[in-house]
Amino acid sequence: MARAVPEVALQHGDERARPMPAVGMGTAEFPVVPDRVRSAVLAAIEVGYRHFRYATEAPLGEAVAEAVRRGVVASREEVFVTTKVWCTKCHPDLVLPSLQESLRNLQMEYVDLYLVHMPISLKPEASGFPLKKEDVVPFDFEGVWRAMEECHRLGLAKAIGVSNFTTKHLDKLLAEMSPVWRQRTVREYCATKGIHVTAYSPLGGQNWGGHGNDVMGSPVLAEIAEARGKSIAQVSLRWIYEQGVTPIAKSYNKERLKQNLEIFDWELTEEDHLKISQIHRRRFHLQNCFLRMVSSHQLIFRTLKLWRSRW
Ligand SMILES: NC(=O)c1ccc[n+]([C@@H]2O[C@H](COP(=O)([O-])OP(=O)(O)OC[C@H]3O[C@@H](n4cnc5c(N)ncnc54)[C@H](OP(=O)(O)O)[C@@H]3O)[C@@H](O)[C@H]2O)c1
Repeated sequence: MARAVPEVALQHGDERARPMPAVGMGTAEFPVVPDRVRSAVLAAIEVGYRHFRYATEAPLGEAVAEAVRRGVVASREEVFVTTKVWCTKCHPDLVLPSLQESLRNLQMEYVDLYLVHMPISLKPEASGFPLKKEDVVPFDFEGVWRAMEECHRLGLAKAIGVSNFTTKHLDKLLAEMSPVWRQRTVREYCATKGIHVTAYSPLGGQNWGGHGNDVMGSPVLAEIAEARGKSIAQVSLRWIYEQGVTPIAKSYNKERLKQNLEIFDWELTEEDHLKISQIHRRRFHLQNCFLRMVSSHQLIFRTLKLWRSRW
């Protein structure tokens, strides 16, 4: 039976917006194999996930449509879908067309959350990795944010936000978060502004940089996991949830997908929290484990004034 997942109302979101489920599934894996994404998302919907962050939009949209056809969910409205505007489209005139293209790929009328991927703007024709310095152009924060607001106004994005910003930009938003990279300053800042935060790479990521994984390899988390009769992944996700943050974990494995939802009927103790707070802090990859922020467009727009002075 599908597991019920608590939901978080976005404080400044559109009143008609669907609340955000407190755990999400990340679908990124490289290289992307559309069939694998499709079947992993379908499996996730079957076990109770209703919150997805895109990897490739088309297979995500196809999986949701298939879940509706099979009656696993009644309609697309039951699912919370996030997508992002990539750096080459971070230009005021390209944000809306980029969302429209995403919606065509997803075969959806709207996304629940639309994010600016990172505070970097690249020439529209730039391609490939690593990003080239000569392709970076000044980021027009106000223009891009106005375009994001337009997406919201048109009802194509029920909520808008940013990703991979640092505290100095919202006071800089988004960074990685896990028990070993705890992001206390960002979280405290966001709490004072009523901004909801989500955490990516909550299990330490996929080791794309080959640096190992200090979350899954943590002896402190292993000890807590053993004492609670849980897995290290569950301890990490539960800790993030207890911080009031929404973890977005990726798994293509049905058993692990289930396991990652089984975090709502038990708690970490004060002693567990103390031990976690003493883990040596380590950030894995520059881009891993960033927090995501979701906020009202008004709030971020106000904050943009702050960014301008510091950018
Ligand atoms: N905005 C950004 O810049 C950015 C950057 C990075 C990530 N993200 C988003 O965040 C999502 C999650 O982050 P991530 O994929 O980097 O890392 P993650 O969720 O921390 O870790 C994923 C890895 O953990 C494994 N795993 C999942 N559940 C497990 C469990 N219960 N026990 C043991 N291993 C488990 C997965 O393998 P299996 O699939 O085999 O289970 C996978 O190798 C991504 O999919 C993406 O949507 C965004």
